[in-house]
Amino acid sequence: MKLTILGGGGFRVPLVYGALLGDRAEGRVTDVVLHDLDAGRLSAVARVLAEQAAGVPGAPAVTATTDLDEALRGADFVFSAIRVGGLEGRAADERVALDQGVLGQETVGAGGIAYGLRTVPVAVDIARRVARLAPDAWVINFTNPAGLVTEAMSRHLGNRVIGICDSPVGLGRRIARVLGVANPREAWIDYVGLNHLGWVRGLRVAGRDELPRLLADPDLLGSFEEGKLFGTEWLRSLGAIPNEYLHYYYFNREAVRAYQNAEKTRGAFLRDQQAGFYEAMQRPDAEALKTWESTRAEREATYMSESRAAAGAGERDADDLSGGYEKVALALMRAIARDERTTLILNVRNQGTLSVLDTDAVIEVPCLVDANGAHPVAVDPLPDHATGLVCAVKAVERQVLVAAESGSRTTAVKAFALHPLVDSVNVARRLVEGYTAEHPGLAYLK
Ligand code: G6P
Ligand code: MN
Repeated sequence: MKLTILGGGGFRVPLVYGALLGDRAEGRVTDVVLHDLDAGRLSAVARVLAEQAAGVPGAPAVTATTDLDEALRGADFVFSAIRVGGLEGRAADERVALDQGVLGQETVGAGGIAYGLRTVPVAVDIARRVARLAPDAWVINFTNPAGLVTEAMSRHLGNRVIGICDSPVGLGRRIARVLGVANPREAWIDYVGLNHLGWVRGLRVAGRDELPRLLADPDLLGSFEEGKLFGTEWLRSLGAIPNEYLHYYYFNREAVRAYQNAEKTRGAFLRDQQAGFYEAMQRPDAEALKTWESTRAEREATYMSESRAAAGAGERDADDLSGGYEKVALALMRAIARDERTTLILNVRNQGTLSVLDTDAVIEVPCLVDANGAHPVAVDPLPDHATGLVCAVKAVERQVLVAAESGSRTTAVKAFALHPLVDSVNVARRLVEGYTAEHPGLAYLK
C-alpha cells in the first residue's frame, strides 16, 4: 500500500508517520512517498521520520521527491497537506485583513478567502493529475481551507476526495470527557455544518442524548475549552456546542481586537518558529526528533491563543494538546483499504443531507466509511441562524471557485464582499487590492 504525502516537507508529517508506525495490521501502508517543492524541507522531515522509524520492525519505507507526477504514480492514497504561499503567505493574509479592521485567520473570513483564492488553482491542478496518473487513488485532503479545497478537488475526483479536520473530533472527545463517557468511541456525535463552521447538537450514548445534561450544568459546561471560549450562558442560549472556529463569528469584534493587539499574529509566530526548526535541521548534529517534538509542543500550547486571551479562557487542557488529525487520516485509510466500517466526521459532498444546499456542496458531517468511501449520514436540519451562516459562507466559497476558474477580479471582490465578516463592499475592494499586491500567487486575477 503506497501513500503519497503532498506537502511532504511539512511540519505535521511526522504525526502521520507516527500513526502509520503504530499500525501493525494486514494491508497497512508499506511505502510512503513525500513530495514537496522544497528539497531542504523534505530532507529535514525525512530526518525526523528516520529517527521515528529506528528500531521499529516493518516501518514503512520512506522516499522523497520534488517531482509531483512521479510522486502520484501508483499511489493508493494521496494525502494532501500543502500550504500555498507558505507561512509567510499566512502572515500576509492576516496583516492585509487587519489593516482593514477585519479578521485574517487562515480559514475564516477575509484571510480564508485570500488563502482559498491562491490554493484552489494549485489543488485543482493536483486533482487533475491524480485523475490522470492515479485514477483509483483516494485523496485525503487536509489542505486548508479544507471544505472549500475539497469541493474544488471533488469537481475532478468526485467522491474520491475526502476532506478531514481534527476540530470536530476534538470537540466530541472533550464533550464526552466532561460527561464522563467511559469510551468516547461509543458516543454518537450529532454534528453538522461546513468545515470550521459546525455545531454539536447532541451526543448520544446507548441511544440517549447526554448533551442536555451538560447544557443544564453550568459548572460542567464551564469546565472545558468551548465552555471557556464561548461562555456558559451563550452555549445554553444556543442549545448547542459550536466548533471553536465559530468564536471568530460570535465574538468577531473581540477576536479582531485580540489579533490586532497580539505581539505577533498566529501566522507570524509560526513563520518564525518553524523557520527556526528547519534551520536547526540543517545542522548535521541536530537531534531531529527531539527538536521536532519541542517545536510541536510549543505550537500546540499556543494554538488559538488570541481567542483564548480574548475570552479569558486561560491555558489549554493538557488532554487537548495531542492533536488528532493523523488519527482521523489513519482511521479513514484503514476503513477504506480494509473495509473496516466506521463512522467519522468528514468533509464530503452533501448528497441531500442538508436540504438547503445542493447535492455537490461539500459539508462536514458524520459519515459511514467502508471500502466504497464515505457516505454522509442523515442528520436533523440546522436551526435557522446556523442555516443562514452555512448558506452565506457556502455562497462565498462558490464565488471563490468561480474567481479561481475564471480569473475574474470582480468575482473575487464579490467573494469578499458577501462574507458575513466583511462589513463593506469598499473593504472588499481594498482587500483584493492589498492581497493581489502582496501575493504573486494571485496574479491570475485580472
Ligand atoms: C486545527 C485545525 C486545522 C489547522 C490547525 C491550525 O487543527 O483544525 O485546520 O490547520 O488547527 O493550527 P496552527 O498550529 O497552524 O495554528
Ligand atoms: Mn481544520
